[in-house]
Amino acid sequence: MGGSNELKGPDLAQGIPEAELGDGQMLLGHAHGQAVLLAKRGLEVFAVSATCTHYSGPLAEGLLEGETIRCPWHHACFSLRTGQALRAPALNPIACFDVKKRSGRLFVSNKTKTEGAPKVGLSAALASVVIVGGGAAGHAAAEMLRREGYEGKLTLLSADRAPPCDRPNLSKDYLSDNAPEEWIPLRPPEFFHDHHIELLLGVRVTGIDVAKQRVIAEGGNTYAYDALLLATGADPIKLTIPGSDLPHVHYLRTLADSRAIIAGTATAKRAVVLGASFIGLEVAASLRARGIEVHVVAPDARPLERVLGPELGDFIRGLHEEHGVTFHLGQTAKTIDPHHVTLANGDVLAADLVVAGIGVEPAIALAATAGLSVDPGVLIDKYLQTSAPGVFAAGDIARWPDPHTGDEIRVEHWVVAERHGQLAALNMLGKKIPCRMVPFFWSQHYDVSISYVGHAEKWDRIDVQGNIAKRDCKLEYRRGSKVLAVVTMGRDLESLRAELAMEKLASAASH
Ligand SMILES: Cc1cc2nc3c(=O)[nH]c(=O)nc-3n(C[C@H](O)[C@H](O)[C@H](O)COP(=O)(O)OP(=O)(O)OC[C@H]3O[C@@H](n4cnc5c(N)ncnc54)[C@H](O)[C@@H]3O)c2cc1C
Ligand code: FES
Repeated sequence: MGGSNELKGPDLAQGIPEAELGDGQMLLGHAHGQAVLLAKRGLEVFAVSATCTHYSGPLAEGLLEGETIRCPWHHACFSLRTGQALRAPALNPIACFDVKKRSGRLFVSNKTKTEGAPKVGLSAALASVVIVGGGAAGHAAAEMLRREGYEGKLTLLSADRAPPCDRPNLSKDYLSDNAPEEWIPLRPPEFFHDHHIELLLGVRVTGIDVAKQRVIAEGGNTYAYDALLLATGADPIKLTIPGSDLPHVHYLRTLADSRAIIAGTATAKRAVVLGASFIGLEVAASLRARGIEVHVVAPDARPLERVLGPELGDFIRGLHEEHGVTFHLGQTAKTIDPHHVTLANGDVLAADLVVAGIGVEPAIALAATAGLSVDPGVLIDKYLQTSAPGVFAAGDIARWPDPHTGDEIRVEHWVVAERHGQLAALNMLGKKIPCRMVPFFWSQHYDVSISYVGHAEKWDRIDVQGNIAKRDCKLEYRRGSKVLAVVTMGRDLESLRAELAMEKLASAASH
């Protein structure tokens, strides 16, 4: 995924009439060879880079809110004043430019002025932070601690041998051979050194001594903490049928898993994907892009119906069928042998590659053994603190009180995990910011991107606006009069507006 390099709109270095930009309006132009976005808020005019630092989304098609701009693709949020990436999934700032007013015209100078975050005064009590889990939440927390000026010891322990990676890409562009492996690490290796983050890979934490404030790793090493973040993510649910342990049967969670599937595609001609989950279907799409025959086997009547409802389930099925995927719905696999998968109904599918995407379970054993409250995620309060003082939890393992629905929810979304990590970091530093986040995720199937804001496990009805078949629609999942979640295709701005509206309601509800 990447934005166009073509520069559009007026040359802002040459100036535009001030009257062309009304209050609350944005204008896309360019200056000094870069796409630049002008935005007017009150009497001030801001000029920032128009390209999102996540996957190069077009910020000019995003949403202005106060002194921020939100990206239309995956809802990152940047400060217009400082360029700071205020919200994941973008982690790096955008450039800011000076704007001069002369003779009723606005000129963008070539002087960039991206500012760092203001440093906070830190409690001397926080001399050592340990983060368990080098994924979305763990990495984002470490980065935010340093961004906010935390100067104490910072240790990031990860069972994975690979450094923090762009996990969503493992089933999408990387798996379909549209993204090189250089895009997968979230940071270059020097980032951790330069930010004094002690990144210890291949280190599995096996115990937490809450009383002595230390974690114990496999092999016996211990790491003392003043504040601890648990961000251990989730593990794929494993098959238990005969043949599950054959070498051509794969799961997908880590870079190593994705590499192993890619290695399997070198000789595979036919693949069976077990499970019509987001990951299962993204794998199906990526394998089709590699020219492999794909059969998807799932017990459901429609793919993704439990999450998205029947209308979108039918659409997604049709979309995959258009690309040559064959579905075997209402079915489960009974046995696997080196060349076949046999289904419960007796059908036999040829398969030299099998990928199981039958769900994940949160990795909560560490927290449970340490005596923290779990049910079935790790229970946290609105500041993301667990039942043990100074111990926070974030990401796929965390179950938090959601002010929008009034329920305690746990979700498995990339952006939520990163934002949790960022918020936990701020709260470790004593900021006491309650979690009012509205969950967001996206899923990519071929050239169709689906955006989902909110959280709806059960709904009374789905209101469909627009045309699903034309990939131009908005679906509202309602319980009573409340909109619990909004799904869009081809309507990114509406997705951003829905997110903002839910944030305002959540904020009002938690006051
Ligand atoms: C292939 C794939 C595609 C996805 N696509 C999307 C998408 O398009 N959109 C979306 O919203 N979400 C997507 N997700 C989900 C998203 O990646 C997760 O929600 C997110 O990674 C959760 O972040 P986390 O930090 O909680 O856990 P993770 O990112 O899983 O990180 C957990 C880390 O903890 C480490 N760990 C676990 N136990 C221990 C231990 N005991 N000691 C030390 N380290 C430990 C692990 O090695 C890992 O490094 C996808 C997931 C996968 C696997
Ligand atoms: S491209 Fe902007 S948030 Fe992903």
